[in-house]
Amino acid sequence: NRGSANLFGWTKDEVVGKMWVGRTFLKEARTGGVLQEISRKIEAQGVVEYQMERVRKDGSRFQANAIVTTLQDSSGKILGFLEIARDITEKLRLEKELRETKDYLENIVQSSVDAIVTTDPKGRITFVNKAMEAMVGVSQKDILLLPISRFYLEGIDEARKIMGILREKGSLQNYDTFTLRSGKKIPILLSASLLRNETGDIIGTLGVFKDLTEMKKLEEELQKTQAHLFQVGKMRAMGELVAGVAHEINNPLMAADTFIHVLQENLPEGEPNRQRLELIQKCHSRIAKIINHLKDFSRQSKLDFRQIDVNEPIENALLITGQQLLNHGIRVGKEFQPDLPKIRGDSTQLEQVFLNLIANAKDAMEAAGRKKELTIRTSLIRHSGWNDIEISFQDTGVGIAEENREKIFEPFFSTKEVGKGTGLGLSICYGIIDAHGGRLEVESRVQEGTTFRVILPVLGTHLGTALEWMEA
Ligand SMILES: Nc1ncnc2c1ncn2[C@@H]1O[C@H](COP(=O)(O)OP(=O)(O)OP(=O)(O)O)[C@@H](O)[C@H]1O
Ligand SMILES: [Mg+2]
Repeated sequence: NRGSANLFGWTKDEVVGKMWVGRTFLKEARTGGVLQEISRKIEAQGVVEYQMERVRKDGSRFQANAIVTTLQDSSGKILGFLEIARDITEKLRLEKELRETKDYLENIVQSSVDAIVTTDPKGRITFVNKAMEAMVGVSQKDILLLPISRFYLEGIDEARKIMGILREKGSLQNYDTFTLRSGKKIPILLSASLLRNETGDIIGTLGVFKDLTEMKKLEEELQKTQAHLFQVGKMRAMGELVAGVAHEINNPLMAADTFIHVLQENLPEGEPNRQRLELIQKCHSRIAKIINHLKDFSRQSKLDFRQIDVNEPIENALLITGQQLLNHGIRVGKEFQPDLPKIRGDSTQLEQVFLNLIANAKDAMEAAGRKKELTIRTSLIRHSGWNDIEISFQDTGVGIAEENREKIFEPFFSTKEVGKGTGLGLSICYGIIDAHGGRLEVESRVQEGTTFRVILPVLGTHLGTALEWMEA
């Protein structure tokens, strides 16, 4: 017919009764027995469909799909064959394009760092990408057809709630919730939408789970930093106030002291008022001590930064307190990491910090009344880009009650009996360490003991020199 003339390029006159159909096949098909095979199949089945490259009159080739049936007379005798052939080059090209598009989209979905999941309208999972498999810890083949509610913290209730919002609004964005990996909560941000077919019927849902674990961690860090900054600010304001007050008290105190001296000189030996004056003097020296503390606290004395070895202020602090600790039955363990890099700091001020921490540990262990052990450790902590030196003081004292842990760095907070503690020790330490660009951290278990950690940054030689140069 005209169709076959168009397809193969031969006119009706050129072929009817003259040409063997085999010429429209490739030479290999003719000689390789493929044609014979097709003939056999047609005779056996009456009809056969195949796809093969065919040849036009001008020798060009094309992919064809053909159906061949037998032509029979009424008695069933085969009279000939009827072939309906079609050029499927275009169809194959479209199929290939479709396959490539599909692969491309699949690749995008699988490469997504966010977990992607689809369900049918009943909430049974129909697809998950690799990120989803990793997030919930279940492989693609085990997850299919499981209800999505299994992966919500609040299960079916939450799945219903989400579906409710989807039905009402069509989509859901940035819904804060949790998914589960072997029972463990993972914070996620969920966005979801309904999937519809061409006629608008709901055929399922699409969900994107964004893992917030990392972000939550950063948020926590930020909160900590904010709290720290707040604390520092509070201390500064307090420092100024305290400096003023200390100064004001100091002058009249000195004057009063002089008068006491004069009175004492004028009273004869054995006079009972002399003893009273002595008591007043003792009170005065206590006040003077507090004022000294206050001055330290407000850091009136400017810090004197140098390149120092942290072992130096630690050893100095131990030199001063060593005998006292021994007298109180306290064993001191030293675990010092050798060859620590030098830091930029004020040795005297750091010694002050260590003395305070040691004094606190001693008091806490006295109060606990069991085996008294103070362990002092130093170590280098490497971060990417900078290093810290950590000096920790671990005691076996009474520990710090949870509700007090926030307050201990505040000036004047003390649990010690009146007259024993001013409550300034730790706030002074805090101020000094802060001025060194470091941190003071505490970890404590009631009735077990407390560890204070002083963390000081190790400045790279370049930065250290630059800072010194700027200060000079
Ligand atoms: N190692 C520790 N073990 C248990 N509690 C501690 C320890 N260090 C500090 N504390 C608690 O923190 C409070 C505040 O300590 P801080 O050093 O600021 O003041 P203080 O020791 O009471 O007085 P000061 O140091 O001025 O003599 C203490 O009263 C105590 O309750
Ligand atoms: Mg103290």
